[in-house]
Amino acid sequence: MKCEVFSTEAALAAALGRRIIDMIGRQPDVVLGLPTGRTPLALYQELIRLTHEERVDWSGVRTFNLDEFVGLGRGDRGGYRTFMENRLFEHVNLVERNIEFLDGRAADLDRECERYERAVVASGGVDLMLLGIGVNGHIGFNEPAGSLVARTHRVMLDEPTRAANTMWFDGDLERVPREALTMGMGTILQSRSIVLIATGDAKSEAVTALLRGGVTTRFPASFLQLHPRVRVLLDVLLADQVP
Ligand code: PGA
Repeated sequence: MKCEVFSTEAALAAALGRRIIDMIGRQPDVVLGLPTGRTPLALYQELIRLTHEERVDWSGVRTFNLDEFVGLGRGDRGGYRTFMENRLFEHVNLVERNIEFLDGRAADLDRECERYERAVVASGGVDLMLLGIGVNGHIGFNEPAGSLVARTHRVMLDEPTRAANTMWFDGDLERVPREALTMGMGTILQSRSIVLIATGDAKSEAVTALLRGGVTTRFPASFLQLHPRVRVLLDVLLADQVP
């Protein structure tokens, strides 16, 4: 895995934003995999800024988000779809039919996961998958476990993961759903290229395990070591704490 270190979170967002906008210019129908959470916020702001400044056309771009809470969908507060609408989708000219999202309110959640897998294949595959990392090593909602499910599936969330998500639910842990739908690690690893972003000192142990540890289902991010085209982007605050 190639690792790049930036002086600040803003510098990282600026560099990655530039690369993604250039990629859209070269390949107008690029397929992007997108994460939610605190980590990509600066990147999404930068993408919006560059888009307005340079009149970037997103009408051919296709997106797949990594995950969604069970019970939440379009328009629901705390839902990842709403997060993405507010933080990116409403600010660029993405076309509705090109936005793929897991629907946590689907009547049959297993079928919804199968639909998503088929949609990834039908798109021709994800060109660039953007990822954050959980302090427990999760990717999307692939939580540490004795075994992992390779494809898109329904998952029980770890308590630390629910606690980390209270910020999207007015600080109220009770309102954070206990289950979610997530792309599986196998689906994620089929992406042609992957960029993982981590910033701030809270992720130092996770990034150390990602870069230096062995491959284990107890730390799902470690599976990224098996992919030939992964870049890990860090700010210096975090990189300085990784041995
Ligand atoms: P965060 O979440 O960006 O809010 O730290 C990352 C993750 O859990 O994947």
